[in-house]
Amino acid sequence: MTMAVEKKKGDEGETRPKIETFDDILPYVGEAGLYQFILFILLLPFTFVYAFLYFTQFFLTLVPNEHWCNVPELNEWNLTDHEKIRLSIPLANAEELGTEGSPLFSRCHMYAVNFTEVMISGIKTPDSTWPIKKCDNGWSFNYTGVPYASIAAELEWVCDKTYLSSAAQSAFFIGSIIGGFIFGYIADRYGRIPALVSCNAVGFFASVATAFCNSFWSFALARMVVGTSFDNCFNILFIITIEYVGPKYRTLVANMSFGIYFAIAASVLPWIAYWIADWRVLSVVTALPLATAFFGPWIAPESARWYLMAGKTDKAIEMLKKFEKMNGKTVAPEIYEEFEKSCNALLEKDKKRQNYTVLDLFKKPRLARITVVLVIYWLLMILVFDGHVWNMKLLHPDVFTSFSLAALTELPAALLLALFLDRWGRRWMGFSSMFICGIFSFVAIFTPEGSITVAMAIFARLGVNIAANIGFQYAAEMLPTVVRAQGVSLIHIIGYFAHIIGPYVIYLADIKKELPLIALGVVSMIDAFLTLTLPETLGQDLPESLQEGNDFGKEQSFWWIPCLSASHEKRKKYRRKIGAVNAGYNPGSLGTIDSTRL
Ligand SMILES: *[C@@H]1O[C@H](CO)[C@@H](O)[C@H](O)[C@H]1NC(C)=O
Ligand SMILES: *[C@@H]1O[C@H](CO)[C@@H](O)[C@H](O)[C@H]1NC(C)=O
Ligand SMILES: *[C@@H]1O[C@H](CO)[C@@H](O)[C@H](O)[C@H]1NC(C)=O
Repeated sequence: MTMAVEKKKGDEGETRPKIETFDDILPYVGEAGLYQFILFILLLPFTFVYAFLYFTQFFLTLVPNEHWCNVPELNEWNLTDHEKIRLSIPLANAEELGTEGSPLFSRCHMYAVNFTEVMISGIKTPDSTWPIKKCDNGWSFNYTGVPYASIAAELEWVCDKTYLSSAAQSAFFIGSIIGGFIFGYIADRYGRIPALVSCNAVGFFASVATAFCNSFWSFALARMVVGTSFDNCFNILFIITIEYVGPKYRTLVANMSFGIYFAIAASVLPWIAYWIADWRVLSVVTALPLATAFFGPWIAPESARWYLMAGKTDKAIEMLKKFEKMNGKTVAPEIYEEFEKSCNALLEKDKKRQNYTVLDLFKKPRLARITVVLVIYWLLMILVFDGHVWNMKLLHPDVFTSFSLAALTELPAALLLALFLDRWGRRWMGFSSMFICGIFSFVAIFTPEGSITVAMAIFARLGVNIAANIGFQYAAEMLPTVVRAQGVSLIHIIGYFAHIIGPYVIYLADIKKELPLIALGVVSMIDAFLTLTLPETLGQDLPESLQEGNDFGKEQSFWWIPCLSASHEKRKKYRRKIGAVNAGYNPGSLGTIDSTRL
């Protein structure tokens, strides 16, 4: 399509299409050759890094649902766990029965009597008149379902201290905000590869350090440092790869690599945790993929776009020559010359652009409204996604299986996206996936506890997975070019705050066990309807200026669904302005987007 458009220019004199942007030179050095294939393979360990960083902490702080007060006096007697519980633990009160798992016996209370005396006098059943107190000698856990003592079980983050697990998770995401700035700076200043390597190195050493933690504070600190590498550890290479792949393969490569690799990584993780059955070893083992980055400088290419932005055009061309050689192509020198010239021109243009800031997004009323909706949309979506992830802790019986299955939904999500996103459009597909997520969240409330609820929660997760992938590219397509990168970064940075509060959603279960799912359902529904207030971007020209961004989609009717009715006159020109299939990866300038995937 791009070629057809560019041919016209060729008619005016030259025979080959003009080389104006980076994407124009890609076909000459190979759009999807051997080197790109190597990069595609290299993404595998890095996607594992991403999934492991995101989810390992879930298993580091997993506590068996069944726990009860430890009564040291009884340990001297030959009693089974069941006998001990029956004698020393009161039945769960109404409030506790209403919490997740409806425990038969109290998890946090015990009878306050002298059990040595009780045993001596031969009493086998408790007396309901015995006074009750909180556990004061630690807890015992039933390790049948979760076959290891996590740090949360070791340090007894249960009952009044349950929030510590979530606080550590928040520390991780606070770290990721800090890391975003630090490694973002390194990436801009010193190059993508130095950022990739340092980021992974920090993550690696901090993950190993996690294994030596013995208190909440040391653990939270270690996880915060690990958190700094979250996102960039994978994202940098992902964006480099996407940049070097020709526009028409971008959506495919992005979906294939992320969708498939991530689904595999995230669904394998629970079983690694299960087999290792030791949180310290788990923390070290899951750090291993991060070590791949130490070989990065020899395999991964520096981003040519970064070289161009930094004014090092010769280095960029060197990089392209490497592709040329690897892919077995030969490129005429004048092509490089022309490329160099147009790059310098683009650089000038980019310089002029720099006077736009994030604030410009809010200067025009309609654009401001769109931006705010996009921010809230992304925020709520992450909240629902994380809520569903952490909620798995509550949905027994088998948390390892359900976590694994829920992660596998990334596969059908990628498939559905590949098949339908460019037919149904972002808006209605975003709406229906969040709507479905909401419906299944509600249905899960009314199904009997156990595997059916888990199945419903997994369907809900499928919905939010799809929505997450749509959201990722939606914003990039809707914000005008001049502020696109800043806008997308803003949305993602605010999204981190949702990550920080996400883990607390499950504490609603302490009030009432249905509450987390009700909350997730309501939030999904709000998010679904919010999508409908946004314009459709499928088949539209990307807005360039602030004014275009402000007017974007004004003429669209509310009910317009791309697969049912053709777009307005604009259809043919479909995004040829930047010649990209996915705007998320091509902001239309030399600068790249800080695109963050969920
Ligand atoms: C403890 O109880 C088990 C089974 O009830 C029995 O086999 C064992 O001999 C007992 N041990 C002691 C020290 O009483
Ligand atoms: C521990 O859990 C298993 C499986 O759910 C159960 O069979 C066993 O009775 C439990 N043990 C105690 C002491 O509750
Ligand atoms: C419990 O009773 C035993 C035997 O009467 C006594 O030796 C022990 O000190 C008592 N423990 C406590 C904590 O009062």
